[in-house]
Amino acid sequence: MLSYSEIVARMPREALTKIDSSLVGYPHVASGKVRDIFDLGDRLLLVASDRISAFDVVLPDGVPGKGIVLTQISRFWFEQTKGMVPDHLLPDQEKVMADELKLPAELHLRSMVVRKLKPLAMECVARGYLAGSGWSSYKKNGTVCGHKLPPGLGEAQELPEPIFTPTTKASVGHDMPLDEAGARALVGDATYELTRKLTLGIYRMGQARARKAGILLADTKFEFGTDDKGVLHLIDEVLTPDSSRFWEAATWKIGGSPASYDKQFVRDYLLTLKDWNQQPPGPRLPAEVIAGTQSRYLEALRRLMQS
Ligand SMILES: Nc1ncnc2c1ncn2[C@@H]1O[C@H](COP(=O)(O)OP(=O)(O)OP(=O)(O)O)[C@@H](O)[C@H]1O
Ligand SMILES: [Mg+2]
Repeated sequence: MLSYSEIVARMPREALTKIDSSLVGYPHVASGKVRDIFDLGDRLLLVASDRISAFDVVLPDGVPGKGIVLTQISRFWFEQTKGMVPDHLLPDQEKVMADELKLPAELHLRSMVVRKLKPLAMECVARGYLAGSGWSSYKKNGTVCGHKLPPGLGEAQELPEPIFTPTTKASVGHDMPLDEAGARALVGDATYELTRKLTLGIYRMGQARARKAGILLADTKFEFGTDDKGVLHLIDEVLTPDSSRFWEAATWKIGGSPASYDKQFVRDYLLTLKDWNQQPPGPRLPAEVIAGTQSRYLEALRRLMQS
């Protein structure tokens, strides 16, 4: 992997929001909100664009270099999860991209060559603090996705124990929360138990490591996929500011929404808009919101890599 300053030196000036198949040279198979997926035959190429989504809507403006930051943060964490769970990353990433796939250099830092796996229909969420939809639900009835929590907790407060709150994996629109029975029915008991154990285990590892970087990892979402023998692998992106809440540890306090190195900055801006109903098309972002988001994502990368 490159150092933080080498990565910063390669950040583009303009956001790359569309990844052209002709640039990649392999068939395009799918586009997620952020990643474009290309077929390498027995493998996949995942290219993280600079697109940003909020409230599940992809916004018209991208954040320059965001895809690079996401891929490099995921690469950092895949190093840390080795030994905990098999993952989708194939060996010799740089060499394969340059020598075998002949990908243009501008795509290397935002791409991953991965095993083609079958994603579970469930997204695996771990929550260690009360935030977002978890906080809304707790305020209403004292529970989060079927977990009864002690009374009197405040917004952003740490939970007594991290909890597993999986959701459906919707191909369009919003993922829906699953209670334990619903999750077991969706993926089966053995997979439910294994993903729960892995999700909480990787979250705890990530939380401890992020703390050294002055970051509180409030919550996160993992995806797992199976190979043709049914072996579960960690796939997609891992512990990034797109898939997680990264809070500033130094100023964190109970009550209110802590300063963060993630998408909250964009959500906060969007919530000031009176005339957007959170349906597509999304609104344009002011230059300072784009720049502020880029600097927050880079700060997350810097802290993780330099601590
Ligand atoms: N190794 C893999 N094999 C097959 N699919 C994968 C693998 N790794 C990631 N994926 C899939 O690639 C997609 C990544 O795209 P992106 O993150 O942009 O999607 P998204 O908009 O978040 O959509 P989703 O809600 O389905 O994740 C995800 O649907 C993920 O399940
Ligand atoms: Mg995704």
